[in-house]
Amino acid sequence: MAKLRLKDLDLQGKRVFLRVDFNVPLEEELEIRDDTRIKAALPTLNYLLEQKTKLTISSHLGRPGGQYDPKLSLKPVAERLSDYISPEVLLAPDVIGDQVTKLKKALKESQVLLLENLRFNPGEKANDLSFAQELAQDIDYYVNDAFGACHRAHASVVGITEYVEKSAAGFLVEKEVEYLGKAVHSPQKPYVAILGGAKVSDKIPVIENLLNKADDILIGGAMAYTFFKAMGNEVGRSRVEEDKIALALSLLEKAQAQGIKIYLPEDHVVSTAIDNEAEAKTVDSFPFSAGLMGLDIGAKTIQKYQEIIAKAQTIFWNGPLGVFEIEQFSLGTMKIAAAVAASPALSIIGGGDSVAAVYKAGVSDKISHISTGGGASLEYLAKETLPGLEALTEK
Ligand code: 3PG
Repeated sequence: MAKLRLKDLDLQGKRVFLRVDFNVPLEEELEIRDDTRIKAALPTLNYLLEQKTKLTISSHLGRPGGQYDPKLSLKPVAERLSDYISPEVLLAPDVIGDQVTKLKKALKESQVLLLENLRFNPGEKANDLSFAQELAQDIDYYVNDAFGACHRAHASVVGITEYVEKSAAGFLVEKEVEYLGKAVHSPQKPYVAILGGAKVSDKIPVIENLLNKADDILIGGAMAYTFFKAMGNEVGRSRVEEDKIALALSLLEKAQAQGIKIYLPEDHVVSTAIDNEAEAKTVDSFPFSAGLMGLDIGAKTIQKYQEIIAKAQTIFWNGPLGVFEIEQFSLGTMKIAAAVAASPALSIIGGGDSVAAVYKAGVSDKISHISTGGGASLEYLAKETLPGLEALTEK
């Protein structure tokens, strides 16, 4: 956990640099589709404003590749943020430079300046120290409330902390680490991990770590078919990561050696196309005929997974169990969301598509913690710390 907390800092009237993760989904017309991440930072923002800080806020948005892209400007974010806090948020024309320096210097107590998208500057991703130093210019304290970006060793997450006297975690980062820490350090048993989504490659480090912690690992989504193929099954046109087959096999062997159960689907909803018009049916054995792909877990698997979830004391879930955006392949994910919500266990949803799934299932209020960081929560579970947390020390 971070060594310094927000409440440890004497903030009255100080110049504070706040890193947030306002990497929000945008519509074509640049309307914000979901502002959960903006709302999640409000407790820290409001606290900093109450303390009469002179506040510079920064975030990345998308992946502009180190150059200006009008479609990834933080303008819509500045406007939305102004709906939630007062005073009005002023958007800087750039990330660093003379104009930005002037605006920073002119900040009065409880005023807010939002820098432009950090990733418009190549120094951000490169963790360039002269860029980091410029971000820290005219700043007393650094606060990181960007949990979703804490796995990125970028200039505004790591490098900047070299140039400010004190760096602390914001309330959101503190809350995320508290919940994820429970799963990592002291999970109540049985501890059930549910992993889905398209790629097994994203989940390999986390599975490796879960083999030492979890009791049961329930697998769904397209990633299951890399495991099935590794076991010698003919999976038709199901998505498989050919270069991860050997690794999938070794994970299954390790799990067996350690007495951890990795469950794979017992039946599958299959079809020839990923749309609602194509005919879908449930099959419970391989081989799949050449044109078919597995797109959801079937009824037997749902029941089996529900039974395991019902007995859990701790649940971590990342990744949908089927193509839940398409009605006829959504049942597995919706039923598992409902089962997690109904369980008395401490339940943690690790960001990304599984968050959308619990909202679609209408059960978000019954989940103990919904993380704002997909990649960050997976990396925290895998490595038990993050570069952005390690950097939060008193220099
Ligand atoms: C996220 O959306 O997971 C974070 O904002 C990190 O974004 P990134 O994957 O582009 O670094």
